Amino acid sequence: MSRVLNNPHFDGATFFIRTYGCQMNQHDAERLGGSLKACGATEASSMENADFVVFVTCCVRERADERLYGQVGSIKNLPVRSDSPYGKRYIAVGGCIGQRDGQSLIDRLNHVDIVFGTHNLPMLPQLFAHAIEYGGHQMSVVASEKEGASPFDLPLDRPHPWSAWLPITSGCNNFCSYCIVPYVRGREISRPIEDIISEAQTFVNEGTKEITLLGQNVNSYGRDLYGSPRFADVLDSVHATGIKRLRFATSHPKDLTDDVIARFGTLEHLMPALHLPVQSGSDRILEAMNRHYTNKQYRSIIEKVRKTCPSIAFSTDIIVGFPGETESDFQQTYDLVKQVGYQQVYTFIYSPRKGTVAAQMENTVPQDVIRDRFDRLVELVNDNVHAINHSWIGRTVEILVEGPSKKDPRMIVGHSPQNQTVHAKVPATASLRSLEGQIVSVHVSAAKTWYLIGEIV
Ligand code: 5AD
Ligand code: SF4
Repeated sequence: MSRVLNNPHFDGATFFIRTYGCQMNQHDAERLGGSLKACGATEASSMENADFVVFVTCCVRERADERLYGQVGSIKNLPVRSDSPYGKRYIAVGGCIGQRDGQSLIDRLNHVDIVFGTHNLPMLPQLFAHAIEYGGHQMSVVASEKEGASPFDLPLDRPHPWSAWLPITSGCNNFCSYCIVPYVRGREISRPIEDIISEAQTFVNEGTKEITLLGQNVNSYGRDLYGSPRFADVLDSVHATGIKRLRFATSHPKDLTDDVIARFGTLEHLMPALHLPVQSGSDRILEAMNRHYTNKQYRSIIEKVRKTCPSIAFSTDIIVGFPGETESDFQQTYDLVKQVGYQQVYTFIYSPRKGTVAAQMENTVPQDVIRDRFDRLVELVNDNVHAINHSWIGRTVEILVEGPSKKDPRMIVGHSPQNQTVHAKVPATASLRSLEGQIVSVHVSAAKTWYLIGEIV
């Protein structure tokens, strides 16, 4: 059941949440929005119109970090809205940068009222209430591990009813050598399966068509729960709620077990799309990254999944320019990308993160070399994706309609089972709004690198 402990009252107040980074952050933002609404605040259309501004932050790469400090800095002199009940705008910074920087963030940005950590979500309404009482007294609250009420008990404020994120684990135990996440999100904790099923069932009863199970590494679900239930059990149970589309992210290749792979062949509503970050194609670099698999092992997983589900679309994450990466290491990454034929590749330039093992490594790759490799990889990815999308011309795909297309207001946009973005023409007789949240069939007539175009059949 949803609850906010000792709800303060923010009647007449407005809030605005700016979210950076991963799906987990976006989900956290839905919980924060839900708890502020439960206190009577309403969502503002912009920061200018908000009495409470909340930043949910990401520190996985340096650029995200810089952008956050720039953004928060830039609203220092934003005028307070005329009918504010407080005569002041309160600013809170949470998420991964909040957790990492704590008090030092307030020292740097002295117009920030509250800094809160990744384990302090349930406290946000009280923190605002406290700041109002003390006229914007600056506070930093950063718990080192989960404490107090569970963030999963907070009310949700979902932007639309037809799709939902459902976190099944929080934190990460892997310590990939480049990654800051285990330091700011803490150790992996699995959510009890009963809670997962009950939330999934609530979504289905509310008319939700698609659920995406979330975790830094969903495949290790249950390790902290005496070894069972495991991730395959979660898939079975959530599937049994009657959800029309089931997805999950993210998977670590070392933990993708055969029982999970088998579900791609047996669970009818498990979508044929798998995000399987490889990070590098070089065994030497994979070892330095502490990833615990080789190029060969990764490719054999891909083959196994493809055999189980021939229509599956793979996506991945790749880091270019990890310390010590030679041209030959890069070439192995390049060849792997070519061999797998990904539907989508998220390419990242290596960014040293203070406190991680890789940040201590001295054999850094010069920026111009990294840039050149990065550009070559992006070109390959674009060519691959373009070719895959072209192969869909003439076929019919089912999409979950998300709303009007930004490209053309007489078209709708949605995603295919393989997670391609699809823009489709609507028959003159159909009302565009009535299609929102429906699953419809689209005949594909054209393909671009980043989307398919067609018409509803
Ligand atoms: N530098 C560059 N990319 C990184 N990622 C994580 N940490 C770093 C880093 N320090 C990438 C990985 C991960 C994705 C979410 O972000 O590819 O899978
Ligand atoms: Fe970071 Fe590795 Fe954990 Fe993913 S699995 S969050 S890359 S430490």
